[in-house]
Amino acid sequence: MKLLVINGPNMNMLGIREPEIYGHATYADLVRYIKDICTQKNIQCEIFQSNHEGDIIDKIQDAYMISDAIVINPAAYSHTSIAIADAIKSVGLPAVEVHLSDITKREDFRKHSYTANVCIKTVTGKGFDGYKEAILLLKDAIDRC
Ligand code: DQA
Repeated sequence: MKLLVINGPNMNMLGIREPEIYGHATYADLVRYIKDICTQKNIQCEIFQSNHEGDIIDKIQDAYMISDAIVINPAAYSHTSIAIADAIKSVGLPAVEVHLSDITKREDFRKHSYTANVCIKTVTGKGFDGYKEAILLLKDAIDRC
């Protein structure tokens, strides 16, 4: 199975940004955590982070016919980007959205996600473990195909 993991804007600032919300672990720690799970589960994974909406869209489009599934934390773009939602829909790959924090319990503007509408599931508020849940769910779905 080939998995693409995408992290959106400011996710590279983990460990520095708002530790009371996102914790003290760094982006490098997150990458290591995801890679370890993928190694254990025999998943070939590419992890991509960008602060730019167009680059994220390009990456999703590049996954067409290449990747089997997408795990995406679009970060703030979840709440604004119809374009990223359209890109996910365009490639027709199963995607799961992850948020480290529980966006349902934060400011009102975070409660709506455009991108969640085109994902098969959203995992929110479980920290790094949310990525594990998303990866295992997609692996299960792909294995059953
Ligand atoms: C986030 C939640 C978003 O609302 C926020 O803009 C982020 C991170 C999360 O992982 O909890 O940058 O996606």
